Amino acid sequence: MEHLRIPLLSLLFFLLNLSSLHFLSLADDYFINCGSHDNVSLTAGQNFSGESKPAGYSFSKSKAVKDINQLPGISPLYKTARSFNKPFYYQFSITEDGTYLVRLHFSAFSSSSSNNLSTAVFGVLDSKNFTLSNNFTAKNTTYSPVIKEFFLRIDITDSFRLYFTPQPSSFAFVNGIELFLAPADFITENYASNLPLHTIYRLNVGGSPVNDTIGRHWETDDSHISDQNSAKKAPFQNTLNLNYFGQRDGLVASNESVAPLPVYQTAREMMNGTSNITWFFRVSSKARHIVRAHFCDIVGQPGNIIFNLYANGNFRKEIGNFSQYSAVPFYYDFVVNYSESELFNISIRPNNGASEQNAFLNGLEILEIVEGLAPIPNVKESKKNVVAPVVGSVLGGLSLICVLIVGFVFGFRHRKVEKRVETSVWSPMPANGGGSSHSSALNLNYLGLKISFSEIQSATNNFDIKLVIGKGGFGNVYRGTLLNGTKVAVKRAYKRDEHGLGSGQGLLEFETEIIVLSKICHRHLVSLIG
Ligand SMILES: *[C@@H]1O[C@H](CO)[C@@H](O)[C@H](O)[C@H]1NC(C)=O
Ligand SMILES: *[C@@H]1O[C@H](CO)[C@@H](O)[C@H](O)[C@H]1NC(C)=O
Ligand SMILES: *[C@@H]1O[C@H](CO)[C@@H](O)[C@H](O)[C@H]1NC(C)=O
Ligand SMILES: *[C@@H]1O[C@H](CO)[C@@H](O)[C@H](O)[C@H]1NC(C)=O
Ligand SMILES: *[C@@H]1O[C@H](CO)[C@@H](O)[C@H](O)[C@H]1NC(C)=O
Ligand SMILES: *[C@@H]1O[C@H](CO)[C@@H](O)[C@H](O)[C@H]1NC(C)=O
Ligand SMILES: *[C@@H]1O[C@H](CO)[C@@H](O)[C@H](O)[C@H]1NC(C)=O
Ligand SMILES: *[C@@H]1O[C@H](CO)[C@@H](O)[C@H](O)[C@H]1NC(C)=O
Ligand SMILES: *[C@@H]1O[C@H](CO)[C@@H](O)[C@H](O)[C@H]1NC(C)=O
Ligand SMILES: *[C@@H]1O[C@H](CO)[C@@H](O)[C@H](O)[C@H]1NC(C)=O
Ligand SMILES: *[C@@H]1O[C@H](CO)[C@@H](O)[C@H](O)[C@H]1NC(C)=O
Ligand SMILES: *[C@@H]1O[C@H](CO)[C@@H](O)[C@H](O)[C@H]1NC(C)=O
Repeated sequence: MEHLRIPLLSLLFFLLNLSSLHFLSLADDYFINCGSHDNVSLTAGQNFSGESKPAGYSFSKSKAVKDINQLPGISPLYKTARSFNKPFYYQFSITEDGTYLVRLHFSAFSSSSSNNLSTAVFGVLDSKNFTLSNNFTAKNTTYSPVIKEFFLRIDITDSFRLYFTPQPSSFAFVNGIELFLAPADFITENYASNLPLHTIYRLNVGGSPVNDTIGRHWETDDSHISDQNSAKKAPFQNTLNLNYFGQRDGLVASNESVAPLPVYQTAREMMNGTSNITWFFRVSSKARHIVRAHFCDIVGQPGNIIFNLYANGNFRKEIGNFSQYSAVPFYYDFVVNYSESELFNISIRPNNGASEQNAFLNGLEILEIVEGLAPIPNVKESKKNVVAPVVGSVLGGLSLICVLIVGFVFGFRHRKVEKRVETSVWSPMPANGGGSSHSSALNLNYLGLKISFSEIQSATNNFDIKLVIGKGGFGNVYRGTLLNGTKVAVKRAYKRDEHGLGSGQGLLEFETEIIVLSKICHRHLVSLIG
């Protein structure tokens, strides 16, 4: 794709690097170092930005607090927080419908301006009233961060919020927030009817701890095995046979975006002389759970091992007998209904008909289905404390100069999903035009990029204020849909007649932006189409 980019560019398009121009945040990935201006990276790979950088989010009245102890060896992420003794929120602009991964980092410390954070008791709610966390106590989190991970279905909105709601006479805090689009089709079946999911366990069975490329942490299963003598670690497998089958009877071929390959390269298998392997987990008896079991036969001859999977002693699925190849990674999802006990177990037991009496498991994820609702609190709004989600200000009188349309290119929200960038980045663009990026950027007519004002009016519902998705230094940006269905961002420039800037100056600036758009090439791209 890299070699295609240059000719395509020179034929048709102006490219816009949003992160350098800031007038609109298309990349819905947020990594926030709460209560701090500093950027910080975790060893797990995430880079968090300080709150000084306006980037499509805002927060309500609250306090930035800082650790007074500043012990060495603790990530700076966990030495600052945003805290308040009343409900507060972070609000995010979301530009693509989908399932988002949300991670909240909590780590208590003592601050001069507030209490020891370890006394905090609070809840976390989302904009749809879902209780992501209830009566959370930070008691045990002093210098030992707790990371809560959720999968949330979010539709395009300017105002997705996470509320932090303290118990009466307590307070709430948060040290870090991650919010980004999950890999495509991550939750393959709509088991949970778009309810939020809370990750409870994620195990690399028979292997070592792994942090994967989207910050998921896979732990060992050592502490969950009921009888260490029933199982042994399978020999490490170097090569895996990816994509050898699609989907069969609920078993789905896996790949690196579902789970990192090290999960499939290790496993637990039966010890000779035992009847099954069982793992125990503490769960909430008041919740349903989605279980995702990962398998890859790295222990037997292809097709020889067939075994049964049980949850709480109930048969759930026969595994095996599907492939003539060994080392094919796949997974199986199922829902476990409300159980009577808080102790939940998963077992595997050889199928009597199999030619090799063995069974194996490579990875296991247990996600709680969040169903609890609570009233969204009233939050005291305070403009002063809100980081504007956009850079720049709209100045002066409001006469229209001209309109710039930018085609959205979807499907590349997260940095890790670079393959998706390359396959989707060009598709929405018109296959006409001519000229080159070296020609005058303003000669839109010559480039075949002219779109009538009435079509733009209709695309944006006559510049409906509800469709504003961003504000630039000299105009609003509206969401719209052209007659041919293309989703576009429309930038409408305003004349500046105060603050010493004449309209000529505004036009010049607008022209400059278009010229800049035509010259920048970056993976966070949208194309100029009119
Ligand atoms: C913090 O990171 C952002 C990118 O996320 C960058 O634009 C900014 O310059 C960085 N700030 C500092 C102080 O390094
Ligand atoms: C995974 O990330 C956590 C948190 O950043 C870190 O403490 C841990 O050492 C990492 N583990 C591995 C195996 O990299
Ligand atoms: C975080 O920043 C480091 C250094 O700037 C970079 O090498 C790494 O790729 C970044 N990680 C992510 C997830 O963007
Ligand atoms: C906060 O209080 C807890 C006990 O409530 C204590 O264990 C912890 O050391 C205190 N943290 C600090 C940073 O003082
Ligand atoms: C949360 O704590 C409050 C007060 O301690 C209690 O009344 C309430 O029942 C608790 N809620 C849950 C769901 O445990
Ligand atoms: C805190 O940790 C102690 C010991 O590890 C444990 O017994 C206790 O239940 C924990 N409390 C909470 C609220 O998690
Ligand atoms: C990875 O597997 C998932 C689930 O089967 C699938 O939806 C996705 O398209 C696959 N991704 C790639 C890059 O093959
Ligand atoms: C299991 O034990 C039986 C009898 O001791 C033996 O014949 C068989 O080869 C063993 N199987 C494996 C896989 O070690
Ligand atoms: C697994 O083995 C244990 C002990 O041998 C037994 O109590 C349990 O019922 C077995 N579970 C299954 C699902 O076979
Ligand atoms: C799940 O449990 C609830 C309550 O125990 C019951 O009403 C419902 O029928 C169960 N659903 C399934 C699919 O077993
Ligand atoms: C394995 O599959 C073959 C053909 O698909 C079938 O004939 C055989 O009965 C299966 N074996 C078991 C134990 O299910
Ligand atoms: C959701 O929150 C709003 C605002 O507080 C409240 O009016 C509504 O009743 C809540 N809905 C549920 C189901 O809790």
